[in-house]
Amino acid sequence: MCGIIGYCGHRPAVSVLVEGLRRLEYRGYDSAGVAFLQHNGLEVVRAAGKLHALEEKLAELNVYQATSGIGHTRWATHGLPTERNAHPHCDPERRLALIHNGIFENYQELRDELAAEGAQFLSETDTEVFTHLLARELKKEKSFKKAFSSALSRVEGAYALVVVSLDHPGTLFAARKSSPLVMGVGEGENFLASDIPAFLPYTRDVVFLEDGEMVQIDAHSWSVFDVATLAPVSKKTTHISWDLQAAEKGGYKHFMLKEIFEQPRVISDCMTGRVDASTKKVLLPELDDIPVPENLFIVACGTSFHAGLWGMYLLESWSKIPTRVEIASEFRYRNPILHKGDAVLVISQSGETADTLAAIRLARECGAYVIGLCNVVGSSIARESDCVVYTQAGPEISVASTKAMCSQLVALTLVALSYAEKKGTLDEKERQQLLQSLAEIPNRLENALPSMRTYAQMLARMYSEARSFMFLGRGLSYPLALEGALKLKEISYIHAEGHAAGEMKHGPIALIDPKFPTFALAPCDELYPKVKSNLVEVQARGGKIIALTHQGSDLVVDNAWEIPSTKGPLDTFFMLPALQLFAYEMADYLGKDVDQPRNLAKSVTVE
Ligand code: G6P
Repeated sequence: MCGIIGYCGHRPAVSVLVEGLRRLEYRGYDSAGVAFLQHNGLEVVRAAGKLHALEEKLAELNVYQATSGIGHTRWATHGLPTERNAHPHCDPERRLALIHNGIFENYQELRDELAAEGAQFLSETDTEVFTHLLARELKKEKSFKKAFSSALSRVEGAYALVVVSLDHPGTLFAARKSSPLVMGVGEGENFLASDIPAFLPYTRDVVFLEDGEMVQIDAHSWSVFDVATLAPVSKKTTHISWDLQAAEKGGYKHFMLKEIFEQPRVISDCMTGRVDASTKKVLLPELDDIPVPENLFIVACGTSFHAGLWGMYLLESWSKIPTRVEIASEFRYRNPILHKGDAVLVISQSGETADTLAAIRLARECGAYVIGLCNVVGSSIARESDCVVYTQAGPEISVASTKAMCSQLVALTLVALSYAEKKGTLDEKERQQLLQSLAEIPNRLENALPSMRTYAQMLARMYSEARSFMFLGRGLSYPLALEGALKLKEISYIHAEGHAAGEMKHGPIALIDPKFPTFALAPCDELYPKVKSNLVEVQARGGKIIALTHQGSDLVVDNAWEIPSTKGPLDTFFMLPALQLFAYEMADYLGKDVDQPRNLAKSVTVE
């Protein structure tokens, strides 16, 4: 996890680095640091805690002469989040400093080897080991690139690394393997970062770096090499169309709120160009590269896993494709049985989740096709899949995922409709009506969101004393119950459990008492009578109930929250934002750090 940035140019580097780190804080925020060359010396400033702690330290120094440097915001993997474990780390002679995102899996072995040679370590991190390794290579080999390459050949695991060296002022060296690293190409300035928003105020021209590539940048030039052979690699620059505004809060109190309110646009963006206006057929040429799967495994983590569970219902009922959904960290270690013709659909907002990426590699080894459903263009998962359906949600900054899930659900709807079309498994009129209703949702949701927020605010105040919540749903509402519980616990730290409503009486009901409220998903669909009976069971135990339902429902509960309805499964596009708003308002009312909840990170690049 961790966010990294490197800069070479004509501006005060430290300001550029700190601003870049602020836009990368979603990747980790337990400590931060910068390194830069100034007055012929290597300066390293680090601080435990959030970025402002680093800024306070920097404010006491004169750092305005440096025009190149590196910066890091950390999410601890090895070693506590203290100042001495914060990056950048230096070699023993302080001739170089480096930042790292990833994990060196064989670091203990390397540490022992170096310690036997007399090396002394100042931190508990795996990263510091590499500074010694590189310094040792530099003693044997004058060419920095060659020394960097042979040091890298000794490490196992994942890395995006950027190095600044006293012997090469104004130049940065970097390399990547299984951790994200992009280069921003500006005029008289170049950037390296974990993600594009870090340098978006300065350039939209981007070079996506691949695994096994090394890069050297200075203010006026950049070059990419194969990390093993050092042969030059030719790269293309891509122009990014979204701007900084898309990566900033746009007047909302939190990114999460902004991203919830962006969902109407996200739905239209995800559909754009994907439905033929005259034939009303789904256009997903990406899927034509592989045959229609005979069996489908959906693999993902966190919120993306919940999206996958929801997608299973559509893929089975509309496209008649036997589908199972698995958590990536389980799938990768259980020798799944995959046959020729099977496909694995991986869902990931970031496209960098380590377990999901490992699941792709396993699926490919087994000969299965891999379909990626990704938000981040050019991400590792996107690159390693046989075909990619981009969810087109734009950058999601808040750690708790909202609009990304919404876009995943739209993409899954389109994938299921597309396969249903190909297989002729869904009535034509039904299919067209579904597409029509989906197209109408953005406007309807846009109109509904303000009053939904008001209702969520009212509920947050009413229930702010609750220390636990039960979320219940059936059918398509079951994955939403899981997601509602996850959102609430992620950002408000209130204990929340999601259950299939019918499962409740097999255990969870024992928890119900007047202080343990239930949030039920009770849309007026064919399962409504069943959910209604489950809620009566909760009431019989004195449990309070909030029910998300539709006009015309006859529920007698503490709070019947009526939201707009649409065609069948698409009701989800109104229920999901209601759950998100409830969690958001609760966390905000309780004064929690909504966008950067404790212990979490947005992009989980470790297993
Ligand atoms: C982290 C994030 C979640 C996200 C999950 C999977 O846990 O905090 O919001 O759902 O990773 O991430 P992905 O990028 O693969 O969708």
